[in-house]
Amino acid sequence: MAAPVKKDQELELTVDSLAYGGNGVARLNGFVVFVRRGLPGDRVRARVTKVQRRHAEALVTEVVAPSPQRVDAPCAHYPACGGCRFQDLAYEAQVAAKEVQVDDALRRIGGIDAPPLEPIVPAEEIFHYRNKLEYSFTQLQDGPTIGFHKAGRWDEVLEVEKCWLTTELGNAIRNRMREWARAERLVAYDQAEQTGYLRHLVVREGRNTGQVLVQLVTAGGEKFDTGHFVDVLREFPEVRSIHWAENTSAAEVTNLPTHLLWGEEAIEEQLCGLRFRVRPNAFLQTNTRMAERLYELARELAGLSGQETVFDLYCGIGTIGLILARDALTVWGVEVSEESVACALENAELNGITNAAFFAGNVGASVGELRERSGEPDVVVVDPPRAGLAGKALRRLGELGAPRVVYVSCNPTTLASDVKVLGTEYGYALVRARPVDMFPHTPHVETVALLEREAQ
Ligand SMILES: C[S@@+](CC[C@H](N)C(=O)[O-])C[C@H]1O[C@@H](n2cnc3c(N)ncnc32)[C@H](O)[C@@H]1O
Repeated sequence: MAAPVKKDQELELTVDSLAYGGNGVARLNGFVVFVRRGLPGDRVRARVTKVQRRHAEALVTEVVAPSPQRVDAPCAHYPACGGCRFQDLAYEAQVAAKEVQVDDALRRIGGIDAPPLEPIVPAEEIFHYRNKLEYSFTQLQDGPTIGFHKAGRWDEVLEVEKCWLTTELGNAIRNRMREWARAERLVAYDQAEQTGYLRHLVVREGRNTGQVLVQLVTAGGEKFDTGHFVDVLREFPEVRSIHWAENTSAAEVTNLPTHLLWGEEAIEEQLCGLRFRVRPNAFLQTNTRMAERLYELARELAGLSGQETVFDLYCGIGTIGLILARDALTVWGVEVSEESVACALENAELNGITNAAFFAGNVGASVGELRERSGEPDVVVVDPPRAGLAGKALRRLGELGAPRVVYVSCNPTTLASDVKVLGTEYGYALVRARPVDMFPHTPHVETVALLEREAQ
């Protein structure tokens, strides 16, 4: 059957829900239209941008009757800024939509008829929650400025005066960096032309310690007075660690080797009563307070008695493993980033934890070797990136056959497909799953899930 709509057609639609990823979902005689910028309960006019056999995509051109769940967005840069998608949707509606998305993924992709889903844990702070912001520089007629990419645009940056996801301190540091760049008459890098100098600014704030790390990313070469740059940042007593990285490639990345310009190599953050050193390129959950809730949940689901061998796969700087080590016999962590593993090893020492070991490696390639050293794991915690347990890692996890797997997921669709394979091919049952909202106003949702395997 041909799709009932055509590209560029104007439709009037009622949005009933939010799909994972953030688009509204509307139906035209049963045919699904994903509506960008449509919120549940809205009656909208929308222009069709793409047509496929089973669904179409459309962009809202006018909200004819706003949803009762719409609220005023406090941020002056919303919705032009690409950082937030739902500041104008009541927070209760945001979390309700995320809970439905996890349930839907487990049913539709995971093939589970009645997912054992527990109520979503809402965020404790809906603004000012991020501990890390990555800004881009852009050139205006009168000098460089700093901001975020515009929504849906990789080639345009919006100047930001006040971001509601960071703190007053975070905003003050960014704005002071803009003044510095202008006073020094530096030129922002132009991605299309590959000319200019200033590329990115990364500001990371240990929210439980008050310590701040700043990383400037430029094109190649030392074209600024590093001493003056350090003096400007030291106006903020919270700044403890100042790094500079050169990006000589066209790729827009910030994950680069750094030169330490001043202060400590790393800053400290505290999570669940432990201290964690964080280097510029190491992974740290970006919502400190909700990371603590996430880890408490992982600890509860791991159900440790003190006798277990635990694997912490995709361990980052060792957060989950070290929090679990207090209740386990031994913990063995694997992580691909050497910088993160260096932090994990330091963090074990910093906290006087002697029953945890961490190794650099790819999970898929190194779990077999780890098992030879450690013996059979009783509990395996996995916390993979959005792509989930890609290919080999999923098979290796299944073959390990640990009685309990705690899966910390930042993408319900890959969680659901991994749960399906672990169920159908390796005999695991999904026993509990609890979504956690770490990122209000964005489409992201975390889930902590427990899988158990019948003794064979
Ligand atoms: C979502 S983070 C979780 C980190 C940590 N568990 C935490 O809560 O802070 C995923 C981590 O997996 C690492 N990673 C990505 N692919 C990997 C792979 N194939 N093998 C091992 N680690 C990987 C990333 O470097 C990152 O630190």
